Amino acid sequence: MSNSIESHLQEDRVFKPSREFSKNARIKNMAQYTRMYQESIEKPGIFWAREAKELAWQKKWTKVLDWKAPYAKWFLGGKLNVCESCVDQHLKNGRANKAALIWEGEPGETRTLTYRQLHREVCQFANVLLAKGIKPKDRVMIYMPMTPEAVIAMLACARIGAVHSVIFGGFSAESIVDRLEDCQAKAMITSDGGYRRGGVVPLKENVDEALKKYKGVETVIVHQRIGNEGAPVKMKRGRDVWWHEEAAQVSAKHEAQAFDSEHPLFILYTSGSTGKPKGILHTSAGYLLGAYTTCKYIFDMRDDDVYWCTADVGWITGHSYIAYGPLANGVTQVMYEGAPNHPDFGRFWDIVEKYSVSIFYTAPTAIRAFIKAGNELPQARDLSSLRLLGTVGEPINPEAWMWYHTIIGGGRCPIVDTWWQTETGAIMISPLPGCTPTKPGTATLPFFGVDAAILDETGEECGPNEGGKLVIRKPWPSMLRTIYGDKKRYRDTYWKDYQGMYTAGDGARTDRKGNFWIVGRLDDVLNVSGHRLGTAEVESALVSHEVVAEAAVVGRPHEIKGQGVVAFVTLKGSTAPTDALNGELRNHVGKVIGAIAKPDEIYFTPAMPKTRSGKIMRRLLKELVATGEISGNTTTLENPGIVEDLRAQLKKK
Ligand code: WTA
Repeated sequence: MSNSIESHLQEDRVFKPSREFSKNARIKNMAQYTRMYQESIEKPGIFWAREAKELAWQKKWTKVLDWKAPYAKWFLGGKLNVCESCVDQHLKNGRANKAALIWEGEPGETRTLTYRQLHREVCQFANVLLAKGIKPKDRVMIYMPMTPEAVIAMLACARIGAVHSVIFGGFSAESIVDRLEDCQAKAMITSDGGYRRGGVVPLKENVDEALKKYKGVETVIVHQRIGNEGAPVKMKRGRDVWWHEEAAQVSAKHEAQAFDSEHPLFILYTSGSTGKPKGILHTSAGYLLGAYTTCKYIFDMRDDDVYWCTADVGWITGHSYIAYGPLANGVTQVMYEGAPNHPDFGRFWDIVEKYSVSIFYTAPTAIRAFIKAGNELPQARDLSSLRLLGTVGEPINPEAWMWYHTIIGGGRCPIVDTWWQTETGAIMISPLPGCTPTKPGTATLPFFGVDAAILDETGEECGPNEGGKLVIRKPWPSMLRTIYGDKKRYRDTYWKDYQGMYTAGDGARTDRKGNFWIVGRLDDVLNVSGHRLGTAEVESALVSHEVVAEAAVVGRPHEIKGQGVVAFVTLKGSTAPTDALNGELRNHVGKVIGAIAKPDEIYFTPAMPKTRSGKIMRRLLKELVATGEISGNTTTLENPGIVEDLRAQLKKK
């Protein structure tokens, strides 16, 4: 990471949007941004009330914000149905027959759903959920591939006031169990599989496996994505039902009932610094407003845009920038089921050309993989429909930024590098495409209502180019409300460092122009291919294997993934370290958490380097994997010889 800081400090290329782009954008110049930003910070009540009027309310709020740190309530007294803003309102505003979702399956089939069709599907599925006895605030787990039904399932939950918790389809059965238990889910929505890189992901099988351990799920609704051509799935009588069979039995009419602004909308699990993922709770009005306004100003969404976010609905990006934000804006969006490299790395560019995508939002890790695959693939396609590009998930290295700008954007598309988190619900720091001067590697300036700052350990604000902790000093509408079932962890994780301020867990600095440069996580959370992963989670997966006595996991810079996972393992008793065991442990982690968590490298060591008080020196392991050397004094270690062994092992690699 320190290398990227060096290059950030030297970065002096500045890119400004074209006059044409600015002229048509909602925010056309910096004076307009500054004026609106100041209002949003000084008079948030006025600013957010004006924006909130654009959502579909059944009852207007009486108070914009109630803030008793660290608990916020937005739009008190108001009532709305989130689904109405995303779907129903477009039946009345001229968008009924406009394409809402253009879906492409990995094998190549396509399906388009207009807003009217989407409405019908969502209403019908809402009736299925009601028929299954799902009540407001019940937790419903969704474990699906990237199909329109995943979005329909989310919206249908929102419509009846149930709380969805989507699990990324790459997570394993055991990960599902932990989450089911934590939120005490009552129902599960899944598919008989999904296509990924030419194969079938056995989603239903994983669910069956998980439900052997967690008994609280009364109903499993299975969408038929694959059919019998794959291995047909087993259906447990009395528990499992087919989506299409249930839908055929209910009406496609459903009146959206209003819920309080603070009604819980979803729980999304994300990694923290312990082995147990955190269930981030988001509520209705504030979250929707955050997703809506950021799409409107940062992606500058228009009625003639074709927007495509390549994230999976299992992550927060898929929640805010596939399911809720774009639909609330009534935009047409592309949704793609499969892998970026199936059948080759030209697939994304085929999709951009085929559907004339105009706004494209992806992750730096994908961009780096595309760079490696060569310029020929994008250059052989017509990408001239693109007008705006975005990135999310991790710091973008200037080389990747320049490639994106030149090869994909043809030098004409502004790039919005968007910093935010599962916890923040919506984008927090980002350029506005019509006005903000951008530099490769910085997410630039805070969005409206976001009072971001960098503080040192004593709580003083850092000067330009001084590294510190990124904090948000005021509440914002789409902020998390708590960690589900664990208020103490909520307070301890985010609100302890500085009185009344949210600590993001990221290190950052600002430059002389006030641009924010995000350096990366300060806690034990890795960012692997833009996905958050706790080192403690991987460690506990490793020690759950019968031959492992102790494990320590650290990150190391990785050319494509941003960060790779490196594990140090001490084996029990006389177990011999072998290559086969190395492979077995990697697969074991894949089985316990999911493929994204598999360590890139595992080193066996007879003991961990420890302090005299018995603490594993992770800092030292981090330095060793990053540089191959240890700079500091190791004589205070309990077992300094171990470091020499490890250094030799790493050198051999
Ligand atoms: C990192 C993803 C630099 C950061 C939306 C944050 C970024 C974590 C950026 C949240 C960016 C996200 N530049 N770093 N533009 N966007 N991050 O919860 O470390 O999956 O804390 O949310 O990703 O990851 P999460």
